[in-house]
Amino acid sequence: MIDKSNQWSDCLIELSTMVVPGSQHIEDKMYHPPEGLQKDAHVPDFNCYLELYKKSIEEPDAFWKEVASDFYWKKPPTGQILQYNFDVTKGNIYVKCMEGATTNMCYNVLDRNVKDKNLGERVAFYWEGNSPDHHEAITYGQLLGQVCRCSNTLKQMGVRKGDRVAIYLPMIPELVYTMLACTRIGAVHSIVFAGFSAESLCERIMDSQCSILVTADGVYRGEKLINLKQIADEALEKCREKASATVTRCLVVKHHALRTQDGDVANTLQVGPDFDQNTDVHLPSTRCPEYGRSSTIYHLPSTIYHLPSTIYLSEVMGQVSEHCEPEWLDAEDPLFILYTSGSTGKPKGVLHTVAGYLLYTSLTFKYVFDHQPDDVYWCTADIGWITGHSYITYGPLANGATSVLFEGIPVHPHVGRFWEVIEKYRVTKFYTAPTAIRLLMKYGLDPVQKYDLSSLRILGTVGEPINPEAWHWYHEVIGQKRCPVVDTFWQTETVRDTFPFFGVEPTILNEHGEELEGEAEGYLVFRRPWPGIMRTLYGNQERFENTYFKKFPGFYVTGDGCRRDRDGYYWIAGRIDDMINVSGHLLSTAEVEASLTDHGAVAEAAVVSRPHAVKGECLYCFVTLKDCREFNRTLVDELKRQVREKIGPIATPDFIQNAPGLPKTRSGKIMRRVLRQIARNEKDLGDLSTMADPKVVEVLFNHRCETA
Ligand code: WTA
Repeated sequence: MIDKSNQWSDCLIELSTMVVPGSQHIEDKMYHPPEGLQKDAHVPDFNCYLELYKKSIEEPDAFWKEVASDFYWKKPPTGQILQYNFDVTKGNIYVKCMEGATTNMCYNVLDRNVKDKNLGERVAFYWEGNSPDHHEAITYGQLLGQVCRCSNTLKQMGVRKGDRVAIYLPMIPELVYTMLACTRIGAVHSIVFAGFSAESLCERIMDSQCSILVTADGVYRGEKLINLKQIADEALEKCREKASATVTRCLVVKHHALRTQDGDVANTLQVGPDFDQNTDVHLPSTRCPEYGRSSTIYHLPSTIYHLPSTIYLSEVMGQVSEHCEPEWLDAEDPLFILYTSGSTGKPKGVLHTVAGYLLYTSLTFKYVFDHQPDDVYWCTADIGWITGHSYITYGPLANGATSVLFEGIPVHPHVGRFWEVIEKYRVTKFYTAPTAIRLLMKYGLDPVQKYDLSSLRILGTVGEPINPEAWHWYHEVIGQKRCPVVDTFWQTETVRDTFPFFGVEPTILNEHGEELEGEAEGYLVFRRPWPGIMRTLYGNQERFENTYFKKFPGFYVTGDGCRRDRDGYYWIAGRIDDMINVSGHLLSTAEVEASLTDHGAVAEAAVVSRPHAVKGECLYCFVTLKDCREFNRTLVDELKRQVREKIGPIATPDFIQNAPGLPKTRSGKIMRRVLRQIARNEKDLGDLSTMADPKVVEVLFNHRCETA
């Protein structure tokens, strides 16, 4: 049976808004986009959408060839555009797009715009810092120059085609420079969200054996200074302890020092305890004569080698050429790895490849946001997540779009910051997450009404199901009833949008793998691939097949539950596996449980979700203590801190409850359904006949946490 524990399962809005500007169906009411918007849209009406959709399914080759004709291919494809096997019983799972073709992502998103389309003067990014006083406009021409310099820098550090580069940076232009530089020289970026802990960073660096780490000295998020370099040092130290020190260089962006004019990193930020100052190579800022001639000049004698040498990115970038020939890659060469939570607790390195990702992000961006040349587009995600990869960097740049790149947070220096930024840049398309909407709703109308939001044309949402209350506020207060809201469902793995985008064929299965017709509820699966679907889990094809393809041979299994209503609309009901969606970020219960049981006092832990007014869901943890350990406030604080430090602030539990015993089946399996009901104070627990010791339930109800 499908677990309907998700709080919104019975009040979701549907996701049919892919036809931009499409109609939306909320709580049994249809909302249509304004006529003016519809008239000039890429897909003006539903019939046009149907026609294109039909072509994408019935003649995929012709459809994708046409999309590909917009881009530059050094060599054309040799065979069918899409080749695949989606059936584990017939051999290994694979997907190939544009096989035989060679191309370069960076060339397509930058050089093609600057040279072929004459967009060198167009603004690619309005960078808006954490403080409203810090901002900068970067044109396509400037971006290309900086990316080439960064490419040459990476090359001089010894980075070659196929090497993995770990990027641990805040939302600053250098993040975009570095990721695009990797794609230019054929290196594979692995971006780690700058809110992750040293442990999480280390785990990701080790899994993909990165040879270089790019980070920044520090960054302010709101009022809080985050010492990124120190966290990065701790991560590298941990890698070394685990005898897995693959990183040989650490490139550091002087961001904090520059922005605050506080001077050098070492003066403003505390240096970590394991950090050996001798290993820091501070390049002279005025000259660097030997640079590039010897690949060993930054190597230090192994006796004092504790951490890789630190090199300041800007200083090297200033010394190298702003021209760099792109590396021509095979269509199916890896583009990047991005880690997402896995139900075993170990994050999964989702791998995307060059051609398919280019075609798919550019097309989804163009149609879902109905991109027009005069748009100013703003996606508030962080590039450290897939939404940022696809819809801050690649999709918009492939379309020659002008975007806002925002370093800050929605409530700093005041709670109207989002609306202030929209007014400042005359943003026309705005893409954010339900959790941000719910947070900002709390402050009422005043902070919104101070600003002019009349430039807005289309609003988007992503990351988790949006509840009707948040949808209405977004539509009425922000969109002033004038802007369609596009709800885009997709995953790190899938890079797709809503119901259903071109090339996507969703269906619903029951527990036995039988397809359900008409009105139905069950597992959301896909029958075939499209260009932007993941290719494998880095270094672990077996886990890839087991996770997504084994349960129902012939289908990609999303892990989400879904309902189709009588009109054929799909409503996403949320995760049906052991993942919890906190503020639009997926967390694995197993990973949180592992960091709780790492604590000396904890014998066993079980983590479930509980509804939360702003985050959507939050973590509710049951811990069974070892004999003679006492459950008290200090321990709760310690445990929360431990999870925060091990995984990152987003994983901080809201509730930790004492569980002298856990409800288990006779075979010893923890009954999470029961725990979820206890967390939500639902007294009617249904059938408990499989439970080994039903008495534990009453004890758990007695120890329930009412408030966080
Ligand atoms: C959930 C984020 C409902 C879903 C892009 C999915 C959504 C998981 C939506 C992927 C949406 C994402 N409505 N649920 N519009 N968008 N989800 O990999 O459970 O971080 O499986 O990618 O987020 O999360 P991920």
